[in-house]
Amino acid sequence: MNKRILLGVTGGIAIYKTLDLISRLKKRNVHVDVIMTRHAMEFVTPLTFETMARAKVHTDGFDRENPEAVEHIQLAKDADVFLIAPATANCMAKLAHGIADDLLSTTALAATCPLMLAPAMNTKMLKHPATQKNMQILAERGAQFIASGQGFLACNEIGEGRMAEPVEILQALRDHFTKKDLQGLRLIVTAGGTRESLDPVRYLTNHSSGKMGWHLAHRALLRGAEVIFITAASLPALKGAKTVRVHTTMEMLAAVQEHFADADGLLMAAAPSDYRPAVVREQKIKKSDDTMTVEFVRNPDILKTVTKDKTHQFVVAFAAETENLTAYAAKKRQEKKADLIVANDVTQEGAGFATDTNIATLIDENGEVALPKMRKAALADRILTRVLQGKNASL
Ligand code: PMT
Repeated sequence: MNKRILLGVTGGIAIYKTLDLISRLKKRNVHVDVIMTRHAMEFVTPLTFETMARAKVHTDGFDRENPEAVEHIQLAKDADVFLIAPATANCMAKLAHGIADDLLSTTALAATCPLMLAPAMNTKMLKHPATQKNMQILAERGAQFIASGQGFLACNEIGEGRMAEPVEILQALRDHFTKKDLQGLRLIVTAGGTRESLDPVRYLTNHSSGKMGWHLAHRALLRGAEVIFITAASLPALKGAKTVRVHTTMEMLAAVQEHFADADGLLMAAAPSDYRPAVVREQKIKKSDDTMTVEFVRNPDILKTVTKDKTHQFVVAFAAETENLTAYAAKKRQEKKADLIVANDVTQEGAGFATDTNIATLIDENGEVALPKMRKAALADRILTRVLQGKNASL
């Protein structure tokens, strides 16, 4: 990250994590300017921060060594991001109402760069209507919050309000600086295994957790795309995406059809069921014989249905295979009129269902590229870059 971060440090016990964060930022060659409030200096001395940040720490008072510089204006001007960690309730209250009574709050008023806040406080303080309102005001003004988590708090209570961990803050910064190269593209991403009901109690599904689709949608959003996320899995909400929750293949088909014409791309990471019970019983099926037979009927193929009307869309199919990986996948790509197919052998360790990693081979009209095992987020980026190349090539 070739960036300059202005780090505001307010008085909270979570300050010890901020030192770890600085150490991680310095390892990545990030320039860190630190402003400490008076209360922050009660917890840790500026010397500790100066040593970690390898730069002068700014505190209240006038810089007599450099009288020409207007410190708060210069700091605000230089920064790519103003991050406040920990951000106390008091600090957020001041920022929400434009109070400028120390170097940190004065600089916040002068700063035009994005503001990121990592709140840290006791649960009751966090939940207090005044704090919630102040956070809402700041969010509406564009501030980005790095949510605090649950845990053991300094006040000897267990609850919400623990400052996010340094790795989470680092990730939030990384996400913030991600290049918005997919801006202007509207992408449909599907995820999860569909569920086909037998009766009001039981359903048939498969092992897809929806993770692959979720990472595709998440990375696409971070890279500036407009995302329509059609999911059959219960996964954390994706802020900024239009999320459509579905259960069955028929519902997924309807949702994809609704958005396909206006989309620039379709990424079918979902595992829709190919069959559904011929009849969905209205009442719970009762045990009777030792064996039971259920009749299934074919579900429509979502990809085949929508690619009949394919015009400008870049279509990515996935192939979950257990044998003859690339041969089966290449055949599916052609049959389903996909531009690219991502083949994964779901029997391989670290690939396929429910894992955080995947091992994939990308197959398109030019041939195939076997990728090593990588995190699903990283694979999502590879696929999205290929989508972008495809879109650019067709311009
Ligand atoms: O969700 P995870 O736990 O992270 O696991 C990821 C994954 C293994 C599910 C994912 O990487 C994957 O391979 N998804 C496709 C699963 C699948 O249904 O494969 P398939 O070979 O049966 O289908 C081929 C393609 O046709 C897929 O893009 C599928 O979405 C699509 N399809 C399938 C059936 C159907 N009725 N309509 C379709 O459009």
